[in-house]
Amino acid sequence: MAVARRLLGAAVVFTVCLIPALTVDRSNFKTCDQSSFCQRQRRLQPGLSSYRAALGSAKLSSDKLEVQLIDDKNQASLLLEVYGLVGNMTRIKINEINPLKPRYEVPDVLVGTPLPTNLQVTGQDDNTLELSLGETGHKLLVTGTPFRLDILSGQDLVLSVNSRGLLHFEHLRERKDTDTEKKDVPAETDEENPEEVESDKEEESKKPEVDEPGMWDETFKTHTDSKPNGPSSVGLDFSLPGFENVYGIPEHADNMKLRTTEGTDPYRLYNLDVFQYELYNTMALYGSVPLLLAHNVKRTLGIFWLNAAETWVDISSNIAGKTLFGKMLQYMQGGGETPQTDVRWMSESGIIDVFLLLGPSPFDIFKQYASLTGTQALPPYFSLGYHQCRWNYNDEEDVRNVDAGFDEYDLPYDVIWLDIEHADGKRYFTWDPHKFPNPRDMLSGLKEKRRKMVAIVDPHIKIDSGYRVHNEIRAQNLYIKTKDGSDYEGWCWPGSAAYPDFTNPEMRKWWASMFSYDKYEGSMDNLFVWNDMNEPSVFNGPEVTMHKDALHWGGWEHRDVHNLYGLYVQRATTEGLIQRSGGKERPFVLTRAFFAGSQRYGAVWTGDNAAEWDHLKISIPMCLSLSLVGISFCGADVGGFFKSPETELLVRWYQAGAYQPFFRAHAHLDTPRREPWLHGDDNMAVIRDVLRQRYTLLPFWYTLFYKALSEGEPVMRPLWVEFPSDVSTFAMDSQYMLGSALLVRPVTEAKARGVQVYLPGDGEVWYDVHSYQRYEAPQTFYLPVTMNSIPVYQRGGSIIPRKDRPRRTSDCMQDDPFTLYVALNLQGEARGELFLDDGHSFNYEQNEFLFREFNYSQGKLTASSLDPSGVFKTPSWIERIVIIGATKPSSITLSLQGGSESSLEFEYDQSTSVITVRKPGVNIASDFTVSLR
Ligand SMILES: *[C@@H]1O[C@H](CO)[C@@H](O)[C@H](O)[C@H]1NC(C)=O
Ligand SMILES: *[C@@H]1O[C@H](CO)[C@@H](O)[C@H](O)[C@H]1NC(C)=O
Repeated sequence: MAVARRLLGAAVVFTVCLIPALTVDRSNFKTCDQSSFCQRQRRLQPGLSSYRAALGSAKLSSDKLEVQLIDDKNQASLLLEVYGLVGNMTRIKINEINPLKPRYEVPDVLVGTPLPTNLQVTGQDDNTLELSLGETGHKLLVTGTPFRLDILSGQDLVLSVNSRGLLHFEHLRERKDTDTEKKDVPAETDEENPEEVESDKEEESKKPEVDEPGMWDETFKTHTDSKPNGPSSVGLDFSLPGFENVYGIPEHADNMKLRTTEGTDPYRLYNLDVFQYELYNTMALYGSVPLLLAHNVKRTLGIFWLNAAETWVDISSNIAGKTLFGKMLQYMQGGGETPQTDVRWMSESGIIDVFLLLGPSPFDIFKQYASLTGTQALPPYFSLGYHQCRWNYNDEEDVRNVDAGFDEYDLPYDVIWLDIEHADGKRYFTWDPHKFPNPRDMLSGLKEKRRKMVAIVDPHIKIDSGYRVHNEIRAQNLYIKTKDGSDYEGWCWPGSAAYPDFTNPEMRKWWASMFSYDKYEGSMDNLFVWNDMNEPSVFNGPEVTMHKDALHWGGWEHRDVHNLYGLYVQRATTEGLIQRSGGKERPFVLTRAFFAGSQRYGAVWTGDNAAEWDHLKISIPMCLSLSLVGISFCGADVGGFFKSPETELLVRWYQAGAYQPFFRAHAHLDTPRREPWLHGDDNMAVIRDVLRQRYTLLPFWYTLFYKALSEGEPVMRPLWVEFPSDVSTFAMDSQYMLGSALLVRPVTEAKARGVQVYLPGDGEVWYDVHSYQRYEAPQTFYLPVTMNSIPVYQRGGSIIPRKDRPRRTSDCMQDDPFTLYVALNLQGEARGELFLDDGHSFNYEQNEFLFREFNYSQGKLTASSLDPSGVFKTPSWIERIVIIGATKPSSITLSLQGGSESSLEFEYDQSTSVITVRKPGVNIASDFTVSLR
């Protein structure tokens, strides 16, 4: 929940009226042209790089290559370090050799020091150095003049660095304070006359470094950014021959497949609280993950640009060969007509630190990126259930009534949420004494029903000498400072607020300690947390965020750390929830702002969307983009945050949301109530059915999250991840996979009578999960739909464990029996997995879990352990086995490990080819075989 209010002078206007026209006020946010470093970086046009690598100075040690890069324009030099890393990765660092002061290197994002491989020189001539990059058959060519890097896999050129000559590194320097020089702006290059570009470049090369407006201070609207360090930006280009599809770099409200940015603004990565964000554009949003993926039928690549400053990414589509491939042309297949994507990264400060992930498969990329930044934390089981939120549930009675409504109408749900109004005057960690006088009683009431609550804790702290949290942070001197050294103050929900410096480990430690039950009064073990506004949002700040010259721990500017702030807030909160339980219980923390590595701390939602069909539609590519960069626990506000959804949209949104990882309904303060029972019995029945579908699949979701934790596999996946050579899936936004077993195509169109469905996979079959209708793939077909329809297909060859008994909460289902849904492929085979533990503690790390495998082949279903180190006792047994796409057997027998054999009852439905095996009755932990004859 968040609304950036317009400002009148210094006062925030907290109007709560409905805003009729929903469009972002673009003028609040910078374009590249209004960002002086972006403008300076972008002014440099492709051409021959002015840098040369002094190969004579190259130093090769066992794990890295060091070479000086010399800028022929100004003789300044940089140090290039290249590392080959275990698992098909290469790291490239470029920094000044002796900067005037240290430049920021992003801490706390990598989970460890990546393991280097042995580099060896395998060839050399006057202008080239050839290295082998460890064990994997990849080679690196370093070209001296002009400087470029090329990575080869066998004879294939995979990726080139600086081949378009866009390396641009602004050295820290002393300010030259003369007015005349300030006016001496270099001429714009003339795109229509390439020869003139060249001569301009030479001209430029003779000029001394000149200061220009925007370098030492920059004004945007009413805000001036004093830039005591002057220009400090870095930029570099990457060419990807043979690639036409690139993905990732969330967060943007855009399609999954990234667009080219020629003639428009680059994609921007700068965590911002964008009021009423617009769809289908490259503007920045709440979070940033600087990982880009490229995919073609042969391979997948990743470029991870580890920089937390404001960053812009240009994407252009070219033909390889026209762009100065030089001697690399011999490595290009088909001469000069290979399509190519060029990617250019530009960041305001810091160093160049980039990881090239070489795949070759999508799952290799996920593993590689996970080895750098970690994997998705395993959510507590309840958090995969349904969450009911609104700004706000007004008081304890309101909470009681809404909670009772779910029971009265027989709707499962797990968590009720409280927004900012629950706290005493937006003083987080407190409760409004009139509306929430007895929070523990309220929480106990929920606990009796085995339900939870989430309350918001934002990182802006009300400046109020009567507020303990404020006093303690101030007393410890842990607030972010202004450039002049006083505590930074901004306007946010509480009015005047200060911002804890979460980059400081002392601050995080203190914050974490605040979640202990004695410090956070009224809290209990079924209370969890939500961090909003952590971009950070500053209503009266530039672009509704913090001044870039504000100062953090270690003397770093906010400019350097901006995109990391939200990650640190969520991290400190997560650590607090773990600590309050003595390290035993898994936390649940939702965040709006995020960065690379945020997956380790919990869930993310797509912020303040709107009750519009296009917002429903875009929730799919927005979560897919997050999934591709390691953040699996993603969802969008069901129903839309702003505005009031028509009933049809609300119902469709429930249907779509039930098949997205984080499933929460939320609504703006000014919107009419929209709990599921307020829309008529028919619609409530549809919503009830949706919620039940979600709950039956919880074991499947949980297993997918275990795979996300253990293997870095995304829970929700673009089709191309599962079908990497099927080009028709490369830009598909309307349907996606859950794991490798379910294909989901939610209805996201108003008044839909039918939808187009594409089922991929040569020689594969799919089954409608509701009707068991069988489809041979690949095929596209028109599926007629009603208001009840959620088109979901189980892939032939998969086995999905479900719990089919409807209950009030996920916790109530814990000991319920399972049904196995076995969907046969054309070979009559299927396979599936199930992960199981207590659902809430870290005991799984002490081997208290079950990881089961089910394998159906040649008429036999066998259950065995995929990880015998795991042991977990559960009363859950198998009550049913549904075999889809089968012929009628004459008998079915069950044999257990010990050798006992018994025959099982079954039914066969001729019309659907489905066998339903009754009551195998075996415990889910036991090994068994069910044989069909
Ligand atoms: C590295 O790449 C090679 C081929 O390019 C591939 O066979 C291998 O599986 C990859 N290894 C990893 C760990 O990704
Ligand atoms: C499934 O079982 C069959 C027959 O026992 C075996 O050949 C096959 O390798 C198994 N498949 C998997 C994925 O374990």
